[in-house]
Amino acid sequence: MKKEILRILRNSNEYISGQELCSCLNVSRTMIWKIMNQLKEEGYMIDSVSNRGYLLLENPDILSKEEIESRIDTKLFGRRVEYIPEVDSTNTYGKRIAEEQDTHGTLVVAEMQNSGKGRRGKQWDSPKGTGIWMSLILKPNFNPQNASMITLVAGLGVAMAIQKLYQTPCQIKWPNDIVLNKRKICGILTEISTEIDMVNHLVVGIGINANTQEFPAELEEVATSISKEIGRDILRSELIAQCMKEIEYYYHIFMKTQDLRELVQDYNDLLISKDKHVFILEGEVKYEAKALGINVRGELEVLTKDGKKKNIYAGEVSVRGIYNYV
Ligand code: BTN
Repeated sequence: MKKEILRILRNSNEYISGQELCSCLNVSRTMIWKIMNQLKEEGYMIDSVSNRGYLLLENPDILSKEEIESRIDTKLFGRRVEYIPEVDSTNTYGKRIAEEQDTHGTLVVAEMQNSGKGRRGKQWDSPKGTGIWMSLILKPNFNPQNASMITLVAGLGVAMAIQKLYQTPCQIKWPNDIVLNKRKICGILTEISTEIDMVNHLVVGIGINANTQEFPAELEEVATSISKEIGRDILRSELIAQCMKEIEYYYHIFMKTQDLRELVQDYNDLLISKDKHVFILEGEVKYEAKALGINVRGELEVLTKDGKKKNIYAGEVSVRGIYNYV
């Protein structure tokens, strides 16, 4: 109910009468009044004027199940949201609930994580109130070998969502960091549960520095937030909803062929290292190469110094710019 009321309020720039809401939603006036009070307590600025009705004056940056679900405009992704104020990691939580029925497309969102996980065993700083820490549960019917490409699909979706909402050209650092003005604003960690030849579930964990202003000293040089770069705070729920829309769109294109043939161009257009020299770190080995772009399997094609073409798989490899993080 709260979700429907939020949707109606947000879509109207005029006062809506209690009566109109009652007949629209088929509930009593007292119920509408109660929900309006709850919303006000949660921080929504709602003006209520007798004989005129209710008007939402300002969209606050609130995360809740209802706030997020009321913005979702997809067929499936994110239509069911599990919101938890504080969690160990949304990926871990996602894995715990993934085997429940009908969880394909469920989105887990937390206000803060106390054991956020990054790639390659690193920890992911996930402070309260400023970031987007979310995990999308997917149950694609395909071979586990295809799973790593889903991370690229999600990265493309997030990058497009940011570009569309804030008209700012962000880029992708292969395989899946989103970069704004050469600093990282988003990382993606996909975890998988498989049988020999089938996927039980994937949990696509997405961390976005949305309104973060301060970073730990060791990250200051390489990390930034959308807010710091565009000069204003953003509405996290709006970005979450846009991400779901874009990821769903690219996911369906991907699933048609179960490779990236229709997305290679879009991805490479955003690839920050395209045609640039990079260092490839494979365990202890480090070498320089020119990044050419991804192929249909999502591998990074590079040209080594001795003129050989090589495909780099995600996993344990790290690609760094010659001079800095990108
Ligand atoms: C990276 O190292 O770049 C990947 C970071 C992924 C962080 C996100 S935040 C939501 C989800 N839950 C986690 O514990 N990690 C991912």
